[in-house]
Amino acid sequence: MTIPQQDHTRTDQTRTDRTPDDETTFPPSPEFVADAVADSSLHDAASADRVAFWAEQSRLMLDWRTPFTSTLDWSAAPFARWFADGELNVAENCLDRHVRAGNGERVAIHFEGANGDTRTITYAQLTADVQRAANMLAGLGVGQGDRVVVYLPLIPEAVVTMLAIARLGAIHSVVFGGFSAESLRARIEDAGAKVVVTADGGWRRGAVSPLKPAVDEALQGEGTDSVEHVLVVQRGGNDIDWTDRDRWWHDEFAAAAPEHEAQAFPAENPLFILYTSGTTGKPKGIVHTSGGYLTQAAYTHKNVFDMHPEKDVYWCTADIGWITGHTYVVYGPLANGVTQVLYEGTPDEPKPGRWWDLVDAYGVTVLYTAPTAVRAAMKAGRQIPEARSLETLRLLGSVGEPINPEAWQWYRQVIGHDRTPIVDTWWQTETGGIMISALPGVTKLKPGAAQTPVPGIVAEIVDDDGHRVDPGGSGYLTITEPWPAMARGIWGDPDRFVETYWSRFPGRYFAGDGARLDGQGDIWVQGRVDDVMNVSGHRLSTAEIESALVGHEGVAEAAVVGAADETTGQAVVAWVCITEEAQASITDRDALVQDLRAWVAKRIGPIARPRDVFIVDELPKTRSGKIVRRLLRAVTEGRPVGDTTTLADTSVLTALQQHTARKR
Ligand code: PRX
Repeated sequence: MTIPQQDHTRTDQTRTDRTPDDETTFPPSPEFVADAVADSSLHDAASADRVAFWAEQSRLMLDWRTPFTSTLDWSAAPFARWFADGELNVAENCLDRHVRAGNGERVAIHFEGANGDTRTITYAQLTADVQRAANMLAGLGVGQGDRVVVYLPLIPEAVVTMLAIARLGAIHSVVFGGFSAESLRARIEDAGAKVVVTADGGWRRGAVSPLKPAVDEALQGEGTDSVEHVLVVQRGGNDIDWTDRDRWWHDEFAAAAPEHEAQAFPAENPLFILYTSGTTGKPKGIVHTSGGYLTQAAYTHKNVFDMHPEKDVYWCTADIGWITGHTYVVYGPLANGVTQVLYEGTPDEPKPGRWWDLVDAYGVTVLYTAPTAVRAAMKAGRQIPEARSLETLRLLGSVGEPINPEAWQWYRQVIGHDRTPIVDTWWQTETGGIMISALPGVTKLKPGAAQTPVPGIVAEIVDDDGHRVDPGGSGYLTITEPWPAMARGIWGDPDRFVETYWSRFPGRYFAGDGARLDGQGDIWVQGRVDDVMNVSGHRLSTAEIESALVGHEGVAEAAVVGAADETTGQAVVAWVCITEEAQASITDRDALVQDLRAWVAKRIGPIARPRDVFIVDELPKTRSGKIVRRLLRAVTEGRPVGDTTTLADTSVLTALQQHTARKR
């Protein structure tokens, strides 16, 4: 049995089979329903014939140069092929076709820089820019299948670059600007990038945050000989070093021919590689292809965000360095011809309330952000959003981690003025697009639950043995049927793809998340059950941070856990044993702690900087020497540790508890 679908017709709240936290629900308002994009016929059509449903959505959402005749080829499972004999150009679907349809004057991007500089870019302008940029990149030798690493701030050139690469049938790999030179180097090496596109620097909190120096440092490292050129956008105006392989974006752009005819590429032509953290130290290059990815990006964006391109102003606050930025800043909204806001800065610069000012300034109607941002806004106080209008908002979205019911309620009341639906969207880098979410105008909303697989997706929660749990049960969230935007593999490592996602429960995609199924068949995602942490909606690997820590000369052993944190969801907490030499020579332990925090930030990036580092004599281990993280997490969070029989020496725990007690 698949997960029962929502009761799409009931709007009363009289059901009796609720568990306590299933009690509050919000039926769609009649006004919303009247103009809603989605209706329950989507669920009906998908249930009747799932594969035919996707074929229909693909034809509806995209322009195919060569129509596909084969929808799904699952013969080499788990490596799917969708729409494989069709051909299209992804960039043309996001740009030229809107201009041809007479919407060239519609604003594609309202850009706002961190410093308040603004640019309004229409679809006609964006199309022209991408055409020229495609010629520019082709001039640097970029063609079908070549990898281009993008390391840019959140500025229009980032969107233009991604689309220009897509237009050429090449493959982009965006690296978040907050990642370190070493992280960048490892990604350049793994992808075998031919070109790197960066900026001198970006703006953050009134100052320039340099980027180009990290590229220079990365390219001095091993394994980066594949890089022929570095293209540099002038943004920060900061002084930078210059080498023979560097080119200014503005020079090359001005010299490039303005018109570029888009070539059609097969649906399975790779579109991008995006690196994400797994349970081992080495990030995985998740590969997405063109036709299936774009189909699901456009379909979910339209139906989950109730997009009316002719009147909506949409804003997804994610950076393009994450999957959310790929699917719901670049590909989904642009494929749907929507007007959106792109903002370079942080929510509270130069002062609290900047986001809400932007909502009012641009008349944002649909806002998509992360629970961590909502909780930070709660902490700052409701008086800040209450001093703004926010009247244009009509739908809110959440992504990246479970949204606690309190934050959900606050988001709806204070930001949504008690009337906007909220869609809590569960998905991952690997899924490519939204998988589980309410459909606004259709689903009765339940604060804190991601709720229902979107039409076309089949999810099941299973127990340890892979048996489906009944309503009321908890277990592992799995996907049982292939979907168009699913990852096509891990770059250069097909075995790891099979092993990581398809081996725990044969025949099922296992996402790494635990979940509960409530009495009405709604899914409550409960977070990762593996060693992947979720800090402010960003995925970090415990193993990667541990391996950075043991790379420090003073560290003998390290264990990292994600501990519950009020604002960031989870926080990185490191427990380290230092070497005997360090013990003998170190006089200031606090200085070492600060040094280790900075060390991790430098090795991986500031987002990985541990909140706490505890220096201890011993870590809790089993008799066979395995660190028992479950216990470390409990100690870190000040919870009862439970069963300790597997420990070789239980006195270790008492020593650890003294550390956290001192901290509190
Ligand atoms: O644990 C889940 C959490 O984020 C993980 C995926 O991270 P990433 O690949 O970086 O993509 C984040 C943006 C799509 C998942 O395994 N997650 C994401 N959305 C939700 C969520 N957990 C609960 N509820 C969500 N809505």
